[in-house]
Amino acid sequence: MDLAQLTRDLESLVAETATALAVAPDVAAVEALEVDVLGKKGRLTGVLRGIGALPPEDRPKVGAIANRVRNEIEGAIVERRSGLGSAELDARLRTETIDVTMPGRPIRRGSLHPSLESMAEIARIFGQFGFVVYESPEVETDENNFQLLNIPVDHPARDLWDTLYVDIPGHLLRTHTSPGQIHLMRSVKPPIRALLPGRCFRYEAIDASHGSEFFQVEGLMVDEGTTLGDLRGILEAFAHAMFGAGKRTRFRPGYYPFTEPSVAFDVECLVCGGPGCPACGRSGWMTILGAGMVHPVVLRNCGLDPERYQGFAFGMGPERIAMLRHRITDLRLFLENDLRFLGQFR
Ligand code: PHE
Repeated sequence: MDLAQLTRDLESLVAETATALAVAPDVAAVEALEVDVLGKKGRLTGVLRGIGALPPEDRPKVGAIANRVRNEIEGAIVERRSGLGSAELDARLRTETIDVTMPGRPIRRGSLHPSLESMAEIARIFGQFGFVVYESPEVETDENNFQLLNIPVDHPARDLWDTLYVDIPGHLLRTHTSPGQIHLMRSVKPPIRALLPGRCFRYEAIDASHGSEFFQVEGLMVDEGTTLGDLRGILEAFAHAMFGAGKRTRFRPGYYPFTEPSVAFDVECLVCGGPGCPACGRSGWMTILGAGMVHPVVLRNCGLDPERYQGFAFGMGPERIAMLRHRITDLRLFLENDLRFLGQFR
């Protein structure tokens, strides 16, 4: 080994490295090459080991050459690495772009079920008259659902409510929210202004206007000197708030065992406004609810003296109200849980 040979070996290492760098496909390959050439056990170290075989006077000259060679190789590696690095970055930027101006994924907003929306609106309006919302049980006693409401066992008036009974003797699924009146009058002293919304159950043949499961909102006011005129006034104000100011309303005679007198409350047809059309059965009127003055027997059943206290009660179907407001023609839609239907009431 002489100096010229060692120098040639170093130069060819530079040339080989340059060739290898030129074909290195990516940064990882460049880094592997760097270890292979410049690493502790790399090829440069291997070539320099030949110093030991040189004549002593030549050895110091090798240092300068080796440094130049190392610098050249390092320079070539750095240049190739940064070239490949920015190409890789460009490619990643091209494929992994995040467009920060793109609109976000919308969160689907829910909405109240039309039965609940209707009940909330009823409660809001009657809240303005001082009515407070109470709840009462869905499984009731025959006593509360019928007897204390002046509907004795075996009385023909029971035919008004096709009843679903449960396995516990003397118990049933409430057919209306009126038993709530009993709970309330037995536990709260007059003056009472209460709303009792809740689910009711009847053994019905289901069709577009009858369901076996539906909601009612019961209203009850009990105080000294409460009259049918108060009932009339409050219901009219309610109808105006719910269906529009100036809508005509009327009382018709009705019958319920627990109110006397009893009435049906009508609003002018929301579709034709009076002359009559298919929606109102050509009568010009739409029935909203049943109501009446609390029967003296019912007051007495709850420990109230009818000579001192009078009251009125009403019961309405929030689904029916929603059907009138939104022109819904089939009650069955309320229980089908079809989002295309439910999503329309925001
Ligand atoms: N409970 C009656 C029904 O379900 C409605 C009603 C309530 C009537 C209160 C008068 C007073 O048909």
